[in-house]
Amino acid sequence: MAKVVVTGKIPAGGLARLKAEHDVTAWEKDDAISRADLLTMVAGADAIVSLLTEKIDDELLDAAGSQLKSVSNVAVGYNNIDVPACEKRGVLVTNTPGVLTEATADIAMSLILMVTRRLGEGERVIRAQEPWQWGMFYMLGMGLQGRQLGIVGMGQIGIATARRAKAFGMNIAYTRRSPLEDNVVNELDAKYMSMDELIESSDVLSLHCPYSPATHHLMSENQFARMKKTAFLINTARGPIVNEQALVDALKAGEIAGAGLDVFENEPAVNPGLLELDNAVLIPHLGSATVETRAAMADIAATNALAILAGAQAPNLVTS
Ligand code: DGY
Repeated sequence: MAKVVVTGKIPAGGLARLKAEHDVTAWEKDDAISRADLLTMVAGADAIVSLLTEKIDDELLDAAGSQLKSVSNVAVGYNNIDVPACEKRGVLVTNTPGVLTEATADIAMSLILMVTRRLGEGERVIRAQEPWQWGMFYMLGMGLQGRQLGIVGMGQIGIATARRAKAFGMNIAYTRRSPLEDNVVNELDAKYMSMDELIESSDVLSLHCPYSPATHHLMSENQFARMKKTAFLINTARGPIVNEQALVDALKAGEIAGAGLDVFENEPAVNPGLLELDNAVLIPHLGSATVETRAAMADIAATNALAILAGAQAPNLVTS
C-alpha cells in the first residue's frame, strides 16, 4: 500500500477508489488547507492528489520527500504546479482534461449573456428594491446576433464556447498556436486572426488559453486601448492572464464596455475597483462547478494517481 495525500475535499467516488487500494490521508475540512498543515501532511507521500488552490513547488516537494512519484491535479489547469521542479525530481504530473469542457463553456456563455444584457446590474436593482419601470431606453444592452466573438486559445473549451455563441447568431473568430482542424473550422465557419486583429475587431473577446509566463498579463493597458469601445472581455481561464488593475482603469475610462470574470488575478481576492463597477460581472471561479463535472474530475485524478502507483502509463500526463 502506498501513502496517498489528498490536499482538499474531493467527491466521494474518486476518493473511494484511492482508499480501496492505498493508505489515504485526506484534508476533510471545507476551508482550504493552510500551507503549514499542507507541508506536514505531504511528508512521506508516494502520491499527492492536489487542488488548484495548493501550490506545488520545491518547498513542498522537499517536504514530501524523494519517494514521491506523482502529483495529480484535480483540475485541467496546472499553473499551481511547478512542473519543471517535479520533472527534475522524476515526479509525474497529471491533470483532468475533457470532462470540464462543457461546464466551463456554459459559464463563458452565461457571462457573455450576463454582461452584454446587463443582467447582474438589473438583478442588483431588483434586490436593492430600487425604483424602476419598463422604459423604451431603460437598461439597454448589446444584442449578440451578427457580432464577432473572438476566442483567444481555441482549444476544447474555446471550441465549446464558440459552438454556443454560434447558436446565438455570433460570428466566430479565433487565434491559436497550431492550425484548427478543418471540420471545426467548417462547422463554426471560424475565421483565424492574429491576436492583434482579434483584439481590434471583436465585439466579445473570450480568453481560453492556459496561464503561463507567456500569457501573464496578455490583456493589459495596450490591449484594452486597442479594443472597440463597445466590446466586452470574458475570462474563464486564469486570472493573471488579465492585468486586473489595467482592466479596472479601462472599464472606468470607457475604453471597453464591460467584462465578465469567473477568475481573478489574486484569488480569492478581487480588485476593489471591480466591485464598484456596474459593467463588470463577477462570479467566484465556477467554471467546472457542477456535481457531475467535479465527480468526473475526481475520478480522472484517481485514475491517474492509481495508474502511476501501479507502474502503468497515466492517461493525462503533462510536461513543461
Ligand atoms: C480547472 O480545472 O482548471 C478549472 O479552473 C477548475 O474550475
